[in-house]
Amino acid sequence: MTAPTRSERTDRSPGPSYQDLLDADTREVPDFLRTEGESGFGIADIPASFYFDRDLVALEKERIWKTVWQFACRETAVANPGDTVVYDIADLSILLVRGDDGGLRGFYNACLHRGRQLRQVDGPVSELACQFHGFCWDLRGELARVPARWDFPQVTDEAFVLPQVRVDTWGGFVFVCLDPDQVPLRDYLGRLTELEHWDMAGRYVEAHVEKLLPCNWKVAQEAFMESFHVVTTHPQLLRGIGDANSQYDAWGWTSRAITPRGTPSPHLSYEPTEQEIFDAMMGLGLDDPRILELPDGATARTVIAAATRSRMAASLGPKADELSDSECVDTFFYTAFPNFHPWGSYNRTCYRFRPNGADPETCFMEVLVLSPFSGERPPDAPVRRLGLEQSFLEAVELGPLARVFFQDEYNVGFVQKGLHTLVEHKPGVSFGAYQETKIRHFYALYRGLMGI
Ligand code: FES
Ligand SMILES: [Fe+2]
Repeated sequence: MTAPTRSERTDRSPGPSYQDLLDADTREVPDFLRTEGESGFGIADIPASFYFDRDLVALEKERIWKTVWQFACRETAVANPGDTVVYDIADLSILLVRGDDGGLRGFYNACLHRGRQLRQVDGPVSELACQFHGFCWDLRGELARVPARWDFPQVTDEAFVLPQVRVDTWGGFVFVCLDPDQVPLRDYLGRLTELEHWDMAGRYVEAHVEKLLPCNWKVAQEAFMESFHVVTTHPQLLRGIGDANSQYDAWGWTSRAITPRGTPSPHLSYEPTEQEIFDAMMGLGLDDPRILELPDGATARTVIAAATRSRMAASLGPKADELSDSECVDTFFYTAFPNFHPWGSYNRTCYRFRPNGADPETCFMEVLVLSPFSGERPPDAPVRRLGLEQSFLEAVELGPLARVFFQDEYNVGFVQKGLHTLVEHKPGVSFGAYQETKIRHFYALYRGLMGI
């Protein structure tokens, strides 16, 4: 794949680019924010059937889920010997286990007797005992016991070792890969590892919400992979967000979107004042009382950056003062193909999207809030699970983000429904050439693996 970088492109929105804003930063900006990756990836339509064709579900399992590195859980969930996590993907289930030797292993989560899932819930155990007939393995996957062993002359300790998948960790995340030939995790994550600059490992899970959505997993994540929808879906943000001035970059298996904030949307027909920009960024409506009167000459960008530095000092100490305005104010949205979406800097949010078993019409969206801390590591929050009939608004632990997710979730079911109708008269969906770069990059990889 070779596609132009943003600077090489001529199809740009009016208004300052992200790189222009960096030139005005009051601090030194990390070098990697000055770089640009490929963008674009053509203008071809993507077949709408990709979102509901039941034959593609089986192909996705074989060519996507059985080949990629994928985020399974946080390391803290399997920190101690005997800790287990069930990671379900497509119609497969993987069991992460911390061994009594300290090793972290991933087993196919199926009993070698008659196939029952070895475990269906997370939590600590002393051995891996199947609840059906009691075949039992130790925490390293060696066969420990077979009831009525006399009746299984074919069962040998060697043949009944639990099969494993590849497991590796980065940034406090545990990844699994079912393909022995895939590149090592670090090579796969490539440029996404620049997130280490913001210490992803030194975070705890302050909130974890899983929501079942009435759409294909690709429809759901695509709703988050561009800032183009902000003008219509989140109009309350416009005075404080340079939505159309976002920079989109792709490298290898990963992509990045940087959306400047504290700068007005080029979609607005007027120039808001710095006070109006500030109020919008604080989530205030036009009639809400002001939180702060900006001093003369101050910009929303620098005032919010200063406030962020003092807030972050509690967890980062003196390092907080070195944060650039950009790291304090802008949003950095990374993706590792196919479904892992951590935000950068201290935005704290991380998404994962998974199909719901073999059903192409529903999927799971998860939001993790990964917060820095000082002193003793706080315990991770339990998962709040929301069904189809519930809304993100119930997830009070997400704060103001719950409203934004609610606006996003509102669309996706109607997209799924509309796609079935669209194909009656138009075979594909038509992504933008630049602003939907992350989605086009996803499909360049997806179509390559799927062979379609
Ligand atoms: S299926 Fe596991 S012991 Fe029978
Ligand atoms: Fe959104």
